[in-house]
Amino acid sequence: MRKKIIAGNWKMNKTITEALDLVRALTLGLKDVKDVDIVVCPVFTALHSVHQAIDGSNIMLGAQNLFWEEKGAFTGEISAPMLKDTHCEYVIIGHSERRTIFKETNEQVNRKIKAALKAGLLPIVCVGERLEERENNRTFDVIKDHVHGALEGLSADNLANIIIAYEPVWAIGTGRTATPAQAQEVHAFIRGLIRDAFGADAGQRLRIQYGGSVTPENIASLSAQPDIDGALVGGASLKAESFIQLVKLSSST
Ligand code: PGA
Repeated sequence: MRKKIIAGNWKMNKTITEALDLVRALTLGLKDVKDVDIVVCPVFTALHSVHQAIDGSNIMLGAQNLFWEEKGAFTGEISAPMLKDTHCEYVIIGHSERRTIFKETNEQVNRKIKAALKAGLLPIVCVGERLEERENNRTFDVIKDHVHGALEGLSADNLANIIIAYEPVWAIGTGRTATPAQAQEVHAFIRGLIRDAFGADAGQRLRIQYGGSVTPENIASLSAQPDIDGALVGGASLKAESFIQLVKLSSST
């Protein structure tokens, strides 16, 4: 049985004060949840304060990006050991906003994953097709390219420490969710790719989150799918009530 994992991707939102208000409500509201891994991914500037507020709770800390070098003349960047230093356990890598706005490539995503693993962080690796790619029946080609590109040179052991998030770009922040059947089809395909490349065990163990307009209204039907192991949540993770509801609803499925 794979444990479900719900991660809140706060994107570029919330000051330290706002972040603390949110996590204080989350630690209270979610304190009895045991069967779901819960992660919040604030902006870099709030990591330290959020860590202090969730320390000792069942909520874990994640970051939204990193740079692959450990230190040096890379103005504006943050390294994996620096994230470890703030008590991050997870890091989102290759989010479609990074791929689109900041032109991140598969090769860069791959370097970031290796740097995260080396520092003992668990990467949440995002993959997903754009609308025109889906409409041109290229979804599976794009997913294959993202998965193979991201995981190039990794071992089956590494795979035990990686989470993949399937996020169709057309569903992110649009209110237009993939149907449970559409998501399940791609999740099963991703699991198959991992099985073929890294063996049956790695495929079976891999946790695959769905992301893209996940809300308390659609989480139950998504997480009821056999290959959906939780969600990466943007908008609905910014409010305590909706995130708490989301986590609780996925805990019973
Ligand atoms: P959304 O974002 O839930 O607001 O669609 C998801 C994501 O980008 O990870």
